[in-house]
Amino acid sequence: MYVLDFFLIAVTLVIGTSIVWSTFRVGISPMPSSTKARNAIMKMIDDSWSGPFYDLGSGWGGLVIPLAKKYPHCKIVGYEISFVPWLVSVIVKTVFRLDNLAIYRKNFLQADLTSAEVLVCYLHTEGMCEVKRKLTEEPNNDGYLISNNFALPSCQPEMIVKIDDLYRSPIYRYRLRECINKS
Ligand SMILES: C[S@@+](CC[C@H](N)C(=O)[O-])C[C@H]1O[C@@H](n2cnc3c(N)ncnc32)[C@H](O)[C@@H]1O
Repeated sequence: MYVLDFFLIAVTLVIGTSIVWSTFRVGISPMPSSTKARNAIMKMIDDSWSGPFYDLGSGWGGLVIPLAKKYPHCKIVGYEISFVPWLVSVIVKTVFRLDNLAIYRKNFLQADLTSAEVLVCYLHTEGMCEVKRKLTEEPNNDGYLISNNFALPSCQPEMIVKIDDLYRSPIYRYRLRECINKS
């Protein structure tokens, strides 16, 4: 019994430390988008878009899994730096046999985002500055960015939806061609 207790405590400590460490590194925890935010993001996706869809910081897979299920003919890509959420999302992807979904354990700032039609993210203020910097350095991007709660600095969104939560949290949609090259 003591061995099992010790094992469970050790596993909990390793998982907890791993999550806290990566939260400290990137400045945001793997907290998933709320159901209302996720529904609003899904509604902002035009059914005529063919992808690929990239989630910049895909966490536990709270967005990429529903996206991969809803758009089985589109390529869905997630980048996640935190090991435990990444591992869980890969297990869920495998269980549901979502062959159109790829989830990489990688810093999205070091990935090539130029072929994405839609980028989605739920980051933080500094993270959005980094996204802006990256997109400015990759000017070929002609897609869209949908951001939960945090705006892209000095960019005019083409659409803002306020979700029906306590804070009326905004979801922004940007046409990158319209804002990155003009700001
Ligand atoms: C608030 S969670 C959002 C998860 C998911 N996108 C959702 O909406 O449910 C943000 C995630 O972004 C990840 N992240 C932050 N910066 C990152 C980076 N530069 N590269 C990869 N992942 C990053 C964090 O580890 C965290 O899991």
